[in-house]
Amino acid sequence: NREVIPVNEITNFHSRAEEFFPIEWFKEMLHNQPVYYHEKTNTWNVFKYDHVKQVLSNYEIFSSEGNRTTIFVGANNKQANASPLMNLTLTDPPVHRKSRSLLAAAFTPRSLKNWEPRIQQIAAQLVENIEDHSTVNIVEALAAPLPGLVIADLFGVPVQDLQQFKKWVDILFQPYDKDRLEDIEQQKQKAAMEYFQYLYPIVLQKRSNLKDDIISDLIQAEVDGDRFTDEEIVQMTMLLLGAGVETTSHAIANTFYSLLYDDESLYGELRNHVELVPDAVEEMLRYRFHMSRRDRTVKQDNDLLGVDLKKGDVVIAWMSASNLDEDMFADPFTLDIHRSNNKKHLTFGNGPHFCLGAPLARLEMKIALEAFVEKFARIEPVEGFELENNLIASATGQSLTYLPMKVYK
Ligand code: HEM
Repeated sequence: NREVIPVNEITNFHSRAEEFFPIEWFKEMLHNQPVYYHEKTNTWNVFKYDHVKQVLSNYEIFSSEGNRTTIFVGANNKQANASPLMNLTLTDPPVHRKSRSLLAAAFTPRSLKNWEPRIQQIAAQLVENIEDHSTVNIVEALAAPLPGLVIADLFGVPVQDLQQFKKWVDILFQPYDKDRLEDIEQQKQKAAMEYFQYLYPIVLQKRSNLKDDIISDLIQAEVDGDRFTDEEIVQMTMLLLGAGVETTSHAIANTFYSLLYDDESLYGELRNHVELVPDAVEEMLRYRFHMSRRDRTVKQDNDLLGVDLKKGDVVIAWMSASNLDEDMFADPFTLDIHRSNNKKHLTFGNGPHFCLGAPLARLEMKIALEAFVEKFARIEPVEGFELENNLIASATGQSLTYLPMKVYK
Protein backbone atom coordinates (compact mmCIF):
# COMPACT_ATOMS: atom_id res chain seq x y z
CA ASN A 1 0.00 0.00 0.00
CA ARG A 2 1.28 3.41 -0.98
CA GLU A 3 1.52 6.24 1.48
CA VAL A 4 -0.61 9.24 0.52
CA ILE A 5 1.12 12.64 0.54
CA PRO A 6 -1.12 15.41 1.97
CA VAL A 7 -0.83 17.93 -0.87
CA ASN A 8 -2.94 20.53 0.93
CA GLU A 9 -0.02 21.05 3.29
CA ILE A 10 2.02 22.21 0.31
CA THR A 11 -0.57 24.53 -1.17
CA ASN A 12 -2.05 25.86 2.05
CA PHE A 13 -5.07 27.40 0.34
CA HIS A 14 -7.28 29.56 2.51
CA SER A 15 -10.58 28.95 0.77
CA ARG A 16 -12.28 26.60 -1.64
CA ALA A 17 -12.48 29.40 -4.19
CA GLU A 18 -8.72 29.86 -4.05
CA GLU A 19 -8.14 26.18 -4.73
CA PHE A 20 -10.72 26.25 -7.53
CA PHE A 21 -8.67 28.92 -9.30
CA PRO A 22 -5.20 28.95 -7.69
CA ILE A 23 -3.72 31.37 -10.15
CA GLU A 24 -2.05 33.64 -7.58
CA TRP A 25 -0.27 30.72 -5.95
CA PHE A 26 0.86 29.37 -9.33
CA LYS A 27 2.12 32.81 -10.32
CA GLU A 28 4.05 33.13 -7.09
CA MET A 29 5.64 29.69 -7.50
CA LEU A 30 6.43 30.18 -11.20
CA HIS A 31 8.11 33.50 -10.51
CA ASN A 32 9.81 32.90 -7.18
CA GLN A 33 10.11 29.19 -6.40
CA PRO A 34 9.92 27.26 -9.66
CA VAL A 35 11.74 24.27 -8.14
CA TYR A 36 10.44 24.12 -4.61
CA TYR A 37 11.42 21.69 -1.88
CA HIS A 38 8.66 21.31 0.69
CA GLU A 39 10.14 20.06 3.89
CA LYS A 40 7.16 18.77 5.80
CA THR A 41 6.01 16.45 3.02
CA ASN A 42 9.55 15.85 1.81
CA THR A 43 8.64 16.58 -1.81
CA TRP A 44 10.13 18.50 -4.70
CA ASN A 45 7.60 20.57 -6.61
CA VAL A 46 8.00 21.83 -10.17
CA PHE A 47 5.87 24.38 -11.97
CA LYS A 48 7.68 25.46 -15.15
CA TYR A 49 6.49 23.98 -18.43
CA ASP A 50 9.79 22.35 -19.39
CA HIS A 51 10.29 20.84 -15.96
CA VAL A 52 6.78 19.45 -15.74
CA LYS A 53 7.07 17.94 -19.20
CA GLN A 54 10.42 16.41 -18.36
CA VAL A 55 9.16 14.87 -15.09
CA LEU A 56 6.08 13.39 -16.75
CA SER A 57 7.77 11.97 -19.80
CA ASN A 58 11.32 10.96 -18.81
CA TYR A 59 10.28 7.69 -17.22
CA GLU A 60 13.79 6.29 -16.98
CA ILE A 61 14.60 8.97 -14.42
CA PHE A 62 11.16 9.89 -13.05
CA SER A 63 9.23 6.72 -12.33
CA SER A 64 5.51 6.11 -11.87
CA GLU A 65 6.44 3.32 -9.48
CA GLY A 66 7.07 4.37 -5.90
CA ASN A 67 5.92 4.05 -2.31
CA ARG A 68 4.46 7.51 -1.92
CA THR A 69 1.84 9.23 -4.04
CA THR A 70 -0.41 12.30 -4.07
CA ILE A 71 -3.30 10.31 -5.50
CA PHE A 72 -5.95 9.16 -3.09
CA VAL A 73 -6.53 5.52 -3.97
CA GLY A 74 -10.22 4.74 -4.41
CA ALA A 75 -12.13 1.68 -3.27
CA ASN A 76 -11.69 -0.05 -6.60
CA ASN A 77 -7.95 -0.50 -6.12
CA LYS A 78 -8.41 -2.23 -2.81
CA GLN A 79 -10.11 -5.28 -4.25
CA ALA A 80 -8.33 -8.34 -2.99
CA ASN A 81 -7.72 -9.92 -6.37
CA ALA A 82 -7.16 -6.83 -8.50
CA SER A 83 -5.38 -7.70 -11.71
CA PRO A 84 -1.81 -6.42 -12.19
CA LEU A 85 -3.09 -4.88 -15.43
CA MET A 86 -5.01 -2.45 -13.22
CA ASN A 87 -1.68 -0.93 -12.23
CA LEU A 88 -1.55 0.89 -15.55
CA THR A 89 -0.92 4.27 -14.00
CA LEU A 90 1.61 2.94 -11.48
CA THR A 91 4.06 1.22 -13.83
CA ASP A 92 6.78 2.31 -16.26
CA PRO A 93 7.52 1.01 -19.72
CA PRO A 94 8.06 -1.79 -20.67
CA VAL A 95 5.66 -3.29 -18.10
CA HIS A 96 3.24 -0.42 -18.70
CA ARG A 97 3.11 -1.05 -22.42
CA LYS A 98 1.03 -4.22 -22.31
CA SER A 99 -1.90 -2.97 -20.23
CA ARG A 100 -1.81 0.33 -22.09
CA SER A 101 -1.98 -1.37 -25.51
CA LEU A 102 -4.77 -3.69 -24.44
CA LEU A 103 -6.84 -0.80 -23.14
CA ALA A 104 -6.00 1.38 -26.14
CA ALA A 105 -7.89 -1.08 -28.35
CA ALA A 106 -11.06 0.62 -27.16
CA PHE A 107 -9.83 4.14 -27.98
CA THR A 108 -8.96 4.04 -31.66
CA PRO A 109 -9.77 6.97 -33.95
CA ARG A 110 -12.30 4.73 -35.66
CA SER A 111 -14.19 4.10 -32.39
CA LEU A 112 -14.18 7.81 -31.77
CA LYS A 113 -15.79 8.51 -35.15
CA ASN A 114 -18.50 5.95 -34.36
CA TRP A 115 -19.14 7.44 -30.94
CA GLU A 116 -19.67 10.99 -32.09
CA PRO A 117 -23.34 10.66 -33.09
CA ARG A 118 -24.12 8.72 -29.93
CA ILE A 119 -22.59 11.41 -27.74
CA GLN A 120 -24.42 14.08 -29.75
CA GLN A 121 -27.70 12.35 -29.08
CA ILE A 122 -27.11 12.16 -25.33
CA ALA A 123 -25.98 15.79 -25.14
CA ALA A 124 -28.89 16.98 -27.30
CA GLN A 125 -31.34 15.22 -25.01
CA LEU A 126 -29.90 16.86 -21.89
CA VAL A 127 -29.90 20.29 -23.52
CA GLU A 128 -33.43 19.69 -24.84
CA ASN A 129 -34.64 19.28 -21.25
CA ILE A 130 -33.49 22.81 -20.38
CA GLU A 131 -36.30 25.31 -20.76
CA ASP A 132 -36.02 28.64 -22.50
CA HIS A 133 -36.09 31.70 -20.21
CA SER A 134 -35.32 29.59 -17.17
CA THR A 135 -32.57 29.58 -14.59
CA VAL A 136 -30.71 26.31 -14.88
CA ASN A 137 -28.10 24.68 -12.67
CA ILE A 138 -25.81 23.68 -15.49
CA VAL A 139 -23.86 21.27 -13.29
CA GLU A 140 -26.92 19.17 -12.59
CA ALA A 141 -28.44 19.60 -16.04
CA LEU A 142 -25.41 18.85 -18.20
CA ALA A 143 -21.91 18.77 -16.74
CA ALA A 144 -22.50 16.09 -14.11
CA PRO A 145 -24.71 13.65 -16.02
CA LEU A 146 -23.11 13.78 -19.49
CA PRO A 147 -19.80 11.92 -18.98
CA GLY A 148 -21.40 9.12 -16.93
CA LEU A 149 -24.21 8.59 -19.43
CA VAL A 150 -21.78 8.68 -22.34
CA ILE A 151 -19.43 6.12 -20.90
CA ALA A 152 -22.28 3.80 -19.85
CA ASP A 153 -23.56 3.98 -23.41
CA LEU A 154 -20.10 3.36 -24.85
CA PHE A 155 -19.59 0.38 -22.54
CA GLY A 156 -22.81 -1.03 -23.95
CA VAL A 157 -24.82 -1.00 -20.71
CA PRO A 158 -28.55 -1.52 -21.47
CA VAL A 159 -30.47 1.75 -21.50
CA GLN A 160 -32.97 0.68 -18.84
CA ASP A 161 -30.11 0.21 -16.34
CA LEU A 162 -28.51 3.63 -16.84
CA GLN A 163 -29.98 5.24 -13.72
CA GLN A 164 -28.83 2.40 -11.48
CA PHE A 165 -25.44 2.47 -13.20
CA LYS A 166 -25.12 6.17 -12.52
CA LYS A 167 -25.94 5.64 -8.84
CA TRP A 168 -23.07 3.18 -8.49
CA VAL A 169 -20.72 5.57 -10.24
CA ASP A 170 -21.73 8.43 -7.96
CA ILE A 171 -21.03 6.35 -4.86
CA LEU A 172 -17.83 4.76 -6.15
CA PHE A 173 -16.24 8.08 -6.95
CA GLN A 174 -17.70 10.35 -4.33
CA PRO A 175 -14.90 12.20 -2.62
CA TYR A 176 -13.75 11.09 0.80
CA ASP A 177 -14.81 13.31 3.66
CA LYS A 178 -12.44 13.01 6.57
CA ASP A 179 -15.27 12.91 9.12
CA ARG A 180 -17.02 10.02 7.41
CA LEU A 181 -14.13 7.95 6.12
CA GLU A 182 -15.41 4.58 7.27
CA ASP A 183 -18.99 5.17 6.30
CA ILE A 184 -17.99 6.21 2.79
CA GLU A 185 -15.56 3.33 2.48
CA GLN A 186 -18.33 0.87 3.35
CA GLN A 187 -20.72 2.41 0.84
CA LYS A 188 -18.03 2.23 -1.81
CA GLN A 189 -17.28 -1.40 -1.15
CA LYS A 190 -20.95 -2.29 -1.34
CA ALA A 191 -21.37 -0.37 -4.60
CA ALA A 192 -18.23 -1.98 -6.01
CA MET A 193 -19.60 -5.44 -5.26
CA GLU A 194 -23.00 -4.70 -6.77
CA TYR A 195 -21.35 -3.12 -9.79
CA PHE A 196 -19.18 -6.18 -10.28
CA GLN A 197 -22.15 -8.56 -9.95
CA TYR A 198 -24.08 -6.50 -12.46
CA LEU A 199 -21.41 -6.10 -15.11
CA TYR A 200 -19.77 -9.51 -15.03
CA PRO A 201 -22.71 -11.36 -16.68
CA ILE A 202 -22.92 -8.59 -19.27
CA VAL A 203 -19.30 -9.22 -20.23
CA LEU A 204 -20.05 -12.95 -20.54
CA GLN A 205 -23.03 -12.26 -22.79
CA LYS A 206 -21.05 -9.96 -25.02
CA ARG A 207 -18.36 -12.57 -25.46
CA SER A 208 -20.74 -14.63 -27.57
CA ASN A 209 -22.48 -11.63 -29.07
CA LEU A 210 -19.95 -8.91 -29.88
CA LYS A 211 -21.31 -5.41 -30.41
CA ASP A 212 -19.89 -2.03 -31.28
CA ASP A 213 -18.95 -0.97 -27.77
CA ILE A 214 -15.99 -0.63 -25.42
CA ILE A 215 -16.58 -3.92 -23.60
CA SER A 216 -16.62 -5.79 -26.92
CA ASP A 217 -13.41 -4.00 -27.95
CA LEU A 218 -11.75 -5.04 -24.71
CA ILE A 219 -12.90 -8.64 -25.21
CA GLN A 220 -11.21 -8.72 -28.61
CA ALA A 221 -8.05 -6.82 -27.66
CA GLU A 222 -4.90 -8.91 -27.91
CA VAL A 223 -1.23 -8.09 -27.25
CA ASP A 224 1.54 -10.69 -27.61
CA GLY A 225 -1.07 -13.45 -27.43
CA ASP A 226 -2.52 -12.11 -24.17
CA ARG A 227 -6.10 -11.04 -23.65
CA PHE A 228 -8.15 -9.64 -20.78
CA THR A 229 -10.09 -12.09 -18.62
CA ASP A 230 -13.76 -11.32 -17.92
CA GLU A 231 -12.86 -10.19 -14.45
CA GLU A 232 -10.15 -7.89 -15.74
CA ILE A 233 -12.59 -6.30 -18.16
CA VAL A 234 -14.95 -5.41 -15.32
CA GLN A 235 -12.01 -3.95 -13.41
CA MET A 236 -10.90 -1.99 -16.47
CA THR A 237 -14.34 -0.43 -16.86
CA MET A 238 -14.02 0.74 -13.28
CA LEU A 239 -10.62 2.22 -13.98
CA LEU A 240 -12.10 4.09 -16.94
CA LEU A 241 -14.97 5.39 -14.83
CA GLY A 242 -12.51 6.58 -12.22
CA ALA A 243 -10.30 8.31 -14.75
CA GLY A 244 -12.93 9.70 -17.06
CA VAL A 245 -16.17 10.73 -15.37
CA GLU A 246 -15.37 13.23 -12.64
CA THR A 247 -12.58 14.82 -14.66
CA THR A 248 -14.75 15.46 -17.69
CA SER A 249 -17.66 16.76 -15.58
CA HIS A 250 -15.24 19.15 -13.93
CA ALA A 251 -13.98 20.36 -17.30
CA ILE A 252 -17.48 20.98 -18.64
CA ALA A 253 -18.72 22.76 -15.51
CA ASN A 254 -15.64 24.99 -15.43
CA THR A 255 -16.12 25.83 -19.09
CA PHE A 256 -19.55 27.27 -18.34
CA TYR A 257 -18.17 29.08 -15.32
CA SER A 258 -15.59 30.65 -17.58
CA LEU A 259 -18.16 31.64 -20.20
CA LEU A 260 -20.16 33.37 -17.47
CA TYR A 261 -17.36 35.04 -15.55
CA ASP A 262 -14.11 35.24 -17.56
CA ASP A 263 -15.22 36.69 -20.88
CA GLU A 264 -18.83 37.67 -21.43
CA SER A 265 -18.43 38.09 -25.17
CA LEU A 266 -17.09 34.59 -25.77
CA TYR A 267 -20.44 32.79 -25.72
CA GLY A 268 -21.76 34.99 -28.53
CA GLU A 269 -18.57 34.52 -30.51
CA LEU A 270 -18.90 30.75 -30.27
CA ARG A 271 -22.54 30.85 -31.26
CA ASN A 272 -21.67 32.81 -34.39
CA HIS A 273 -18.56 30.73 -35.11
CA VAL A 274 -19.18 27.17 -34.01
CA GLU A 275 -15.96 26.17 -35.75
CA LEU A 276 -14.09 27.93 -32.92
CA VAL A 277 -15.47 25.53 -30.30
CA PRO A 278 -12.46 23.15 -30.42
CA ASP A 279 -10.09 26.08 -29.78
CA ALA A 280 -12.27 27.20 -26.89
CA VAL A 281 -12.15 23.69 -25.45
CA GLU A 282 -8.34 23.69 -25.50
CA GLU A 283 -8.14 27.09 -23.87
CA MET A 284 -10.57 26.01 -21.15
CA LEU A 285 -8.38 22.97 -20.48
CA ARG A 286 -5.35 25.25 -20.24
CA TYR A 287 -6.82 28.07 -18.24
CA ARG A 288 -9.70 26.64 -16.24
CA PHE A 289 -8.74 23.07 -15.40
CA HIS A 290 -7.31 22.97 -11.87
CA MET A 291 -5.77 21.03 -10.18
CA SER A 292 -4.00 18.82 -12.65
CA ARG A 293 -0.81 17.41 -11.09
CA ARG A 294 1.03 14.11 -10.94
CA ASP A 295 3.90 12.73 -8.88
CA ARG A 296 6.92 10.67 -9.88
CA THR A 297 9.71 9.02 -7.90
CA VAL A 298 13.35 9.67 -8.81
CA LYS A 299 14.98 6.49 -10.10
CA GLN A 300 18.58 7.65 -10.26
CA ASP A 301 20.48 10.63 -8.85
CA ASN A 302 20.41 13.57 -11.28
CA ASP A 303 20.40 17.36 -11.61
CA LEU A 304 17.99 17.62 -14.53
CA LEU A 305 15.89 20.21 -12.72
CA GLY A 306 18.91 22.26 -11.65
CA VAL A 307 19.00 20.84 -8.13
CA ASP A 308 20.49 17.65 -6.72
CA LEU A 309 17.83 14.98 -6.82
CA LYS A 310 18.49 11.68 -5.09
CA LYS A 311 17.11 8.27 -5.87
CA GLY A 312 13.81 7.86 -4.00
CA ASP A 313 12.95 11.59 -3.94
CA VAL A 314 9.37 12.41 -4.83
CA VAL A 315 8.75 15.12 -7.45
CA ILE A 316 5.30 16.62 -7.95
CA ALA A 317 4.66 18.04 -11.41
CA TRP A 318 2.03 20.80 -11.33
CA MET A 319 0.55 20.67 -14.81
CA SER A 320 -2.08 23.36 -14.19
CA ALA A 321 0.74 25.72 -13.17
CA SER A 322 2.85 24.84 -16.20
CA ASN A 323 -0.09 25.88 -18.37
CA LEU A 324 0.46 29.42 -17.07
CA ASP A 325 4.21 29.57 -17.74
CA GLU A 326 5.07 32.81 -19.55
CA ASP A 327 7.99 31.10 -21.27
CA MET A 328 5.49 28.86 -23.05
CA PHE A 329 2.27 30.84 -23.38
CA ALA A 330 2.15 34.54 -24.19
CA ASP A 331 0.05 36.52 -21.72
CA PRO A 332 -0.85 33.26 -19.92
CA PHE A 333 -3.09 34.75 -17.24
CA THR A 334 -5.66 35.82 -19.82
CA LEU A 335 -8.24 33.58 -21.43
CA ASP A 336 -7.70 33.72 -25.19
CA ILE A 337 -9.17 31.06 -27.43
CA HIS A 338 -7.16 32.41 -30.38
CA ARG A 339 -3.66 31.67 -29.07
CA SER A 340 -1.69 29.77 -31.66
CA ASN A 341 -0.30 27.04 -29.41
CA ASN A 342 -3.47 26.37 -27.44
CA LYS A 343 -3.18 22.60 -27.72
CA LYS A 344 0.18 22.55 -25.94
CA HIS A 345 -1.26 22.57 -22.42
CA LEU A 346 -0.24 19.67 -20.17
CA THR A 347 -3.65 19.07 -18.57
CA PHE A 348 -3.75 15.56 -20.03
CA GLY A 349 -0.14 14.83 -19.07
CA ASN A 350 2.71 13.98 -21.42
CA GLY A 351 4.76 10.95 -22.41
CA PRO A 352 3.88 7.27 -21.99
CA HIS A 353 0.98 7.92 -19.60
CA PHE A 354 -0.61 10.66 -21.68
CA CYS A 355 -4.33 10.49 -20.98
CA LEU A 356 -5.81 7.65 -22.98
CA GLY A 357 -9.23 9.28 -22.84
CA ALA A 358 -8.11 12.72 -24.02
CA PRO A 359 -9.80 12.40 -27.44
CA LEU A 360 -13.03 11.30 -25.76
CA ALA A 361 -12.89 14.08 -23.16
CA ARG A 362 -12.25 16.65 -25.89
CA LEU A 363 -15.10 15.28 -27.96
CA GLU A 364 -17.53 15.42 -25.03
CA MET A 365 -16.57 18.99 -24.22
CA LYS A 366 -16.92 20.01 -27.85
CA ILE A 367 -20.29 18.32 -28.29
CA ALA A 368 -21.65 19.73 -25.02
CA LEU A 369 -20.73 23.26 -26.08
CA GLU A 370 -21.97 22.84 -29.63
CA ALA A 371 -25.33 21.48 -28.47
CA PHE A 372 -25.65 24.42 -26.13
CA VAL A 373 -24.79 27.27 -28.47
CA GLU A 374 -27.02 25.73 -31.08
CA LYS A 375 -30.08 26.00 -28.86
CA PHE A 376 -29.44 29.11 -26.76
CA ALA A 377 -28.54 32.55 -28.06
CA ARG A 378 -27.55 33.97 -24.72
CA ILE A 379 -26.52 32.95 -21.21
CA GLU A 380 -26.27 35.16 -18.15
CA PRO A 381 -24.92 34.78 -14.64
CA VAL A 382 -27.35 34.93 -11.74
CA GLU A 383 -26.83 37.78 -9.34
CA GLY A 384 -25.71 36.90 -5.86
CA PHE A 385 -24.08 33.60 -6.83
CA GLU A 386 -21.43 32.79 -4.25
CA LEU A 387 -18.68 30.57 -5.55
CA GLU A 388 -17.29 29.63 -2.14
CA ASN A 389 -20.53 27.98 -1.01
CA ASN A 390 -20.97 25.93 -4.13
CA LEU A 391 -17.73 23.99 -4.32
CA ILE A 392 -16.90 20.54 -3.04
CA ALA A 393 -13.59 18.75 -2.58
CA SER A 394 -12.94 16.37 -5.47
CA ALA A 395 -10.15 14.52 -7.21
CA THR A 396 -9.54 17.72 -9.15
CA GLY A 397 -9.25 19.93 -6.09
CA GLN A 398 -12.55 21.77 -5.89
CA SER A 399 -15.51 21.16 -8.17
CA LEU A 400 -18.70 23.12 -8.69
CA THR A 401 -21.87 21.53 -7.33
CA TYR A 402 -24.16 24.35 -8.36
CA LEU A 403 -23.78 26.91 -11.12
CA PRO A 404 -26.97 28.78 -11.96
CA MET A 405 -27.39 30.64 -15.22
CA LYS A 406 -30.22 32.22 -17.15
CA VAL A 407 -30.71 30.93 -20.67
CA TYR A 408 -32.42 32.56 -23.64
CA LYS A 409 -33.15 31.12 -27.08
C1 HEM B 1 -4.36 9.33 -17.62
C2 HEM B 1 -6.20 13.78 -17.22
C3 HEM B 1 -10.44 12.23 -19.07
C4 HEM B 1 -8.69 7.70 -19.12
C5 HEM B 1 -4.47 10.68 -17.42
C6 HEM B 1 -3.39 11.56 -17.02
C7 HEM B 1 -3.93 12.79 -16.88
C8 HEM B 1 -5.33 12.72 -17.22
C9 HEM B 1 -3.20 14.05 -16.44
C10 HEM B 1 -1.91 11.19 -16.92
C11 HEM B 1 -1.51 10.48 -15.67
C12 HEM B 1 0.01 10.34 -15.49
O1 HEM B 1 0.80 10.96 -16.19
O2 HEM B 1 0.39 9.60 -14.57
C13 HEM B 1 -7.50 13.74 -17.68
C14 HEM B 1 -8.38 14.90 -17.80
C15 HEM B 1 -9.57 14.46 -18.32
C16 HEM B 1 -9.45 13.03 -18.53
C17 HEM B 1 -7.98 16.33 -17.43
C18 HEM B 1 -10.82 15.23 -18.67
C19 HEM B 1 -10.87 16.52 -18.93
C20 HEM B 1 -10.32 10.87 -19.30
C21 HEM B 1 -11.33 10.04 -19.91
C22 HEM B 1 -10.84 8.75 -19.89
C23 HEM B 1 -9.51 8.80 -19.30
C24 HEM B 1 -12.67 10.52 -20.46
C25 HEM B 1 -11.47 7.47 -20.39
C26 HEM B 1 -12.72 7.19 -20.37
C27 HEM B 1 -7.39 7.76 -18.69
C28 HEM B 1 -6.56 6.59 -18.51
C29 HEM B 1 -5.30 7.05 -18.07
C30 HEM B 1 -5.40 8.50 -17.99
C31 HEM B 1 -6.96 5.14 -18.76
C32 HEM B 1 -4.07 6.22 -17.72
C33 HEM B 1 -3.11 6.19 -18.87
C34 HEM B 1 -1.80 5.54 -18.52
O3 HEM B 1 -1.40 5.51 -17.34
O4 HEM B 1 -1.14 5.04 -19.44
N1 HEM B 1 -5.64 11.41 -17.56
N2 HEM B 1 -8.19 12.64 -18.12
N3 HEM B 1 -9.23 10.09 -18.97
N4 HEM B 1 -6.68 8.89 -18.36
FE1 HEM B 1 -7.40 10.77 -18.34
